[in-house]
Amino acid sequence: MQQETRIAPSILSADFANLGAEVRAITEAGADYVHVDVMDGHFVPNLTIGPGVVKALRPHSALTFDVHLMISPVDIFVPAFAEAGADIITVHPEAGPHVHRTLQLIKTLGKKAGISLNPGTPVEAVDPVLDLLDLVLVMSVNPGFGGQAFIPGVLRKIEALRRRIDDSGRDIDLEVDGGINAETARDAVAAGADVLVAGTATFQGGASAYAENIRTLRGGS
Ligand code: DX5
Ligand code: ZN
Repeated sequence: MQQETRIAPSILSADFANLGAEVRAITEAGADYVHVDVMDGHFVPNLTIGPGVVKALRPHSALTFDVHLMISPVDIFVPAFAEAGADIITVHPEAGPHVHRTLQLIKTLGKKAGISLNPGTPVEAVDPVLDLLDLVLVMSVNPGFGGQAFIPGVLRKIEALRRRIDDSGRDIDLEVDGGINAETARDAVAAGADVLVAGTATFQGGASAYAENIRTLRGGS
């Protein structure tokens, strides 16, 4: 069942010189999850942050830390992110030879497990692992950078995944990541998404604008 819309600001668009303050600011502004984009310069063409930063940010917010791993190989780093304080750990099926094993590992560590589908990855990738999932993260851009344009064809994938999740009867978040603004947020929610990642659209205008930005994305005016 599609839940109420939750907003997951991606700290990739935050001020990296003030990350603790930024995480506190989005927490006070009404964010639901803190979305952490981890990139390795190999699986995706950008480098961001590691488990040490997650650990340093952990005391700054009680919100769910939604950690999106865009790294390969991924298994060797999963325990470090779990230990650092991640609540949800999401991986790409292309990031290792055994995605089922990777998801089992995340669950064994007591964390929620997510799978992320790139724009070129078919929805069928979730079918064999549905019973292990707490979250499906649909990429609406090719991963690597904030500020890219939403790919409209992804809306059909969101609809297809909503049907799969509902048919499963399981409580699985359907999260969309990339190019989310007021308009694409509406489209993604209409297609069945219930968690929206937003970097640029959350952090634009500085801390005094975060609450209004989040409200707008949630569908309020
Ligand atoms: C892209 C990341 C996204 C990105 C979203 O690889 O996974 O989380 O930061 O940024 P915006 O909202 O700016 O498209
Ligand atoms: Zn992300």
